[in-house]
Amino acid sequence: MEFRVHPAKRGLRGEIQVPGDKSISHRALMLGALAEGITEIDNFLAGEDCLNTARILRQLGVKIRQTGQTRLIVHGRGLHGLTEAGDVLDVGNSGTSLRLLLGILSGQPFYSILTGDESIRRRPMGRVVEPLQRMGARIAGRNGGKLAPLTVLGSPAGLQPITFSSPAASAQVKSAVLLAGLYALGETTVKEPAKSRDHTERMLQAFGADVKMEGLSASCRGGPRLAGQKLAIPGDISSAAFFIVGATIVEGSDLVIRGVGLNQTRTGLLDALKIMGADISILNIHDQTGEPVGDLRVRTANLHATEISGELIPRLIDEIPILAVAALFARGATVIRDAAELRVKESDRIETLHQELSRLGGEVEVLPDGLIIHGGRTLAGAGCDSHGDHRIAMAAAIAGLKCQGQTTVRDVGCIGTSFPEFGSLLADLAGGLEYL
Ligand code: S3P
Repeated sequence: MEFRVHPAKRGLRGEIQVPGDKSISHRALMLGALAEGITEIDNFLAGEDCLNTARILRQLGVKIRQTGQTRLIVHGRGLHGLTEAGDVLDVGNSGTSLRLLLGILSGQPFYSILTGDESIRRRPMGRVVEPLQRMGARIAGRNGGKLAPLTVLGSPAGLQPITFSSPAASAQVKSAVLLAGLYALGETTVKEPAKSRDHTERMLQAFGADVKMEGLSASCRGGPRLAGQKLAIPGDISSAAFFIVGATIVEGSDLVIRGVGLNQTRTGLLDALKIMGADISILNIHDQTGEPVGDLRVRTANLHATEISGELIPRLIDEIPILAVAALFARGATVIRDAAELRVKESDRIETLHQELSRLGGEVEVLPDGLIIHGGRTLAGAGCDSHGDHRIAMAAAIAGLKCQGQTTVRDVGCIGTSFPEFGSLLADLAGGLEYL
């Protein structure tokens, strides 16, 4: 499938909602499965990544019922109630499913095999496998256990707690170790070089686990009884990001996005855009199952360049593709550094952004750990490729709203992993979008 995008016919105006947060939806399913009793999940993201987590949990004996388009009921099995699957567990494109489930499966007494699509089988798994092995997990995989498919032999005697200093600010690594820590006797601690998203810690607390968060470290005590919860998943700021930037760069926009998750570990894009001159206000902040949620009002603004680096990077890591699009329309050269993690996402986003933004006529330089984007040039529509990466596809489509002529984005089926409604929402708001 491909998109044909034409220059926006009008400003992005009105009120929208974006689907539930992907990271939080995965965690709600997993903790619901490990809890005792029923977990009700509202505003669940029914994108392919989270549906893959649900399918795998069903393979492990968990009953999950869909009672509405975005409403699920998980019948928890308790910490020790999962059962051996009859087949390989396939996460598709989802790194969060693979890494977090690896943590959970490390503590089970049975055998599992985890695999995924071509992109997943290229992504580094050693960063999760190594600390889990230190806890006593028995994991093997391609390239000495660094690449999927990965087999987990099971640990009938449980795991040992560790204190792990993670070299990367990665929530997937932190979460895998903390989830394995549920199966260890004592306290497991993860220290990070910069704070990554803390949804696992917050949700473990909501389910009744003994979790401590202190600065850059998070600890979890093994063997808790987790109790089923009623959860309402906040809208995904990583999906809202495309419309935040769209409304900022398309003239005549005034858009309200309701019910967006505003956890501090995820709001780096708002901070960066504000520094660049964006007009964003936050309204109606409230707490929703342990997560801050609010409405965003975004109006068109003229942007100027800035430098994005250091501790800001983990707080906007998934938003860099769309931030790079904002930088294309900002005055001056925007420098993005300390973001080498981009190279091991769904695609090598430093390379894929360089390729696709250059095709549109952008002037982009590649750094080993980032990009320099020279903004303010007039861009002409062109043929872009998603590289199978949902966020590259959506970023290119938003850029197309401000290019002269037609922009084609090929292979946009991947958008279904995180934001299946993206195309129809964009067509309703801006017009000028065709699907082929
Ligand atoms: C995620 C953590 C981040 C992020 C990914 C989702 C999560 O990855 O990029 O899209 O749900 O924990 P890393 O943990 O690899 O930084």
